[in-house]
Amino acid sequence: MARRGNSIIKGIEINEIISVLNKAYADEWLAYYQYFIEAKVIKGIMKDAAIAELTQHAADELRHANMVADRILQLGGTPLLHPQEWFTHTNCGYEEPKDFDVVSILEDSIKGEQCAISVYSHIVEMTRHKDVVTYDIVSQILADEVEHEEDLQTLHDDITEFITDIKKNMH
Ligand SMILES: [Fe+2]
Ligand SMILES: [Fe+2]
Repeated sequence: MARRGNSIIKGIEINEIISVLNKAYADEWLAYYQYFIEAKVIKGIMKDAAIAELTQHAADELRHANMVADRILQLGGTPLLHPQEWFTHTNCGYEEPKDFDVVSILEDSIKGEQCAISVYSHIVEMTRHKDVVTYDIVSQILADEVEHEEDLQTLHDDITEFITDIKKNMH
């Protein structure tokens, strides 16, 4: 635990920060696995472009899990030790892929990113001017999640447009 480092935290309980970070930590692991498995099972048109995107996102979520775990430890907390706790702590849950079609997979993923954006913007607000180190980390993660949503939405729109064009040309 960073003693002097933690003495600069003002106006907020360290335990409260650890608790919200552990919930975000659960979300990151579930998001990581969701992207990992989506990239494996996905089917349909332009799936290679989607696989590249999903694989990149999986790597980013795992990197976020790392960043959050390291900050929890600095604060004197313990990152969740059992995967079962991911489900009891998660904010965003886990969207099991039911339909493996590219468009539904991308829609599931967009929902997940929108939830992540809400979670991190809440932690950003909570730590602003109070815990500058956590604030900095969650701001970086928030920027990544915004980029994730944008990338998935663009890909989703390209694919649906492409499908519409094909259908038009068939008539
Ligand atoms: Fe993330
Ligand atoms: Fe993300």
